[in-house]
Amino acid sequence: MCGIVGYAGQSGNAKEIIIDGLKRLEYRGYDSSGIALISNGKLEVRKRAGRIANLEEMIKDESLNSKMGIGHTRWATHGAPSDINSHPHTNKDGSIAVVHNGILENYVELRQWLIEEHGIEFRSEVDTEVIVHLISIYYDGNLEDAVFKALQRMRGAYAIAAVCQDDPEKIVAFRRNAPLIAGIGRGCNFIASDIPAILRYVKEIYLIENNEMVIVTKDDIKIYDIDRNEVHRDIFHVTWDAESAEKNGYKHFMLKEIHEQPKGLYETLRRRIDDNGMINLDGICLTKEQLENFNRIYIVACGTAYHAGLVGKFAIEKMAQIAVEVEVASEFRYRDPFVDDKTLFIAISQSGETSDTLEALREAKRKGARIISVVNVVGSSVARESDDVFYTWAGPEIAVASTKAYTTQLMSMYIIALYMGITKGTIDKEYYESFMEDLKEIPDKAKKVLQLESMLASLARDLYKNEQIFFIGRGPDAGVSYEGSLKLKEISYINSFAIAAGELKHGTIALIEKDIVVIALATQDKLYEKMLSNIQEVKARGAYVIGMATENNKEIEMQADKVIYIPECRDELTPLLSVIPLQLLAYYIAKERGCDIDKPKNLAKSVTVE
Ligand code: AGP
Ligand code: GLU
Repeated sequence: MCGIVGYAGQSGNAKEIIIDGLKRLEYRGYDSSGIALISNGKLEVRKRAGRIANLEEMIKDESLNSKMGIGHTRWATHGAPSDINSHPHTNKDGSIAVVHNGILENYVELRQWLIEEHGIEFRSEVDTEVIVHLISIYYDGNLEDAVFKALQRMRGAYAIAAVCQDDPEKIVAFRRNAPLIAGIGRGCNFIASDIPAILRYVKEIYLIENNEMVIVTKDDIKIYDIDRNEVHRDIFHVTWDAESAEKNGYKHFMLKEIHEQPKGLYETLRRRIDDNGMINLDGICLTKEQLENFNRIYIVACGTAYHAGLVGKFAIEKMAQIAVEVEVASEFRYRDPFVDDKTLFIAISQSGETSDTLEALREAKRKGARIISVVNVVGSSVARESDDVFYTWAGPEIAVASTKAYTTQLMSMYIIALYMGITKGTIDKEYYESFMEDLKEIPDKAKKVLQLESMLASLARDLYKNEQIFFIGRGPDAGVSYEGSLKLKEISYINSFAIAAGELKHGTIALIEKDIVVIALATQDKLYEKMLSNIQEVKARGAYVIGMATENNKEIEMQADKVIYIPECRDELTPLLSVIPLQLLAYYIAKERGCDIDKPKNLAKSVTVE
């Protein structure tokens, strides 16, 4: 997510302190930054798209001497990254500035009301700008009064901070389901989204809870609940260093992001279900006629995103009854593919900047295809060049090895498949509702799978010296096998290999010999017996087999040397759960091997070159 930093003190170097704090939040991922300072009695706002260095360059020759201000790093959700969409956002006369983390879910209706009832002229596309105009309308000399009144109208998950030129000593901040802390300094006080931003200056903080306002001046910090009762909060003493604080206490971003998957899955689904339980694809309108016009769907991507497509194929073909071809972008773009106006092209990309995927998209577009992309980074190139975008809500993914982006891509595939099926009429309401209920259970089931972590860490200690490990599976499990193998390969450098289990006997089984480790995914009820046979095949040649099955299938214990059980769920949905143990196993094996887990050798987070 992005970040908020605020400072109120005696020294005139609020600019430097806030910029320093924003830099310490860079790890959270962002696309633009900005700062608002009270300088010589005037509210000065400077903001730029891109790295914080761009903002620093912009203000390097301005003294902007100030004792109070707020800063922001943005992770765009509404409106592409740009100077004008960056925070802080200000009211009409520039006397009030607001920074904001999260989403104002009812911003459309509020924006309309502000335009129609108050003649507000919006300068940006961002939901945040609605907040500052609301506060401005209610402002009558007391900033916290105005903020409280505005909050009554606001729905969503957010943290905000506001400053006002006419109330130059005060920062007013509020938290509703997005992080916010207040820091206790000497002759100064702070607010921030996260501890690293201010750890250089304070070791004592107040943890702000949901629906609480905090009012910060250089001499005082006051906390109020939503009913404006003052709240007493114990001081939290920070005992860890900045480095570990950036990862919320996890040793690596990859492990943090593995554990963020239940939240990402929940957010990706939740935002697409309307009050009637029907799916809305964020404005993507595919009518029954349009869907019936498609006679082919390509899902095109690279790496992990490609593996998500392999699983998505099963869901879309089954529910939408349209042929789906899944292809790596680097192959698609050079083979002069057959594409016409009856083709739907789905690009999947976490970064939205992968060169091969972008060029494949352009090739399909040139030939008349309808382009939908599933992307994690708002306003990225793939997103901008698509006809429609379906954003995953994984939040910034920092580790090179993709985890939470993958599972939210899978979730996106199921949502799109359901939407297509119910729109085309190729699934009935009963199937739709049953599948939707099962989807809603996934985030909690994912949390349950994460409880296997210590068992997997122990298994990793048994496995990490192996120089080759095989993954096998059938149907959607084959796609997950490829993903599990890639995870292991790219962070532990073990020569892992994945293959469709039924394909083993066509050559690859020649490699199976005593003590070769085979991870066999057998989560598909309808393919379970076949997988037990494949396990017997490799066991007969001396393999050490780690099986994976749903909790109800215990026979696998007769065949495999070790079994990883995941919660029972319908066959189509097991990939959302079965990949998590493979992510954790890869992580802990790489850890045992002393690898650089977040930044593996030779790899980049986004491959923007051929
Ligand atoms: C996955 O762990 C790798 N980092 C890599 O395969 C990645 O999935 C691939 O480069 C595609 O990236 P994208 O999703 O940003 O397009
Ligand atoms: N929704 C706001 C925006 O798109 C805030 C996003 C964030 O958390 O940075 O600018």
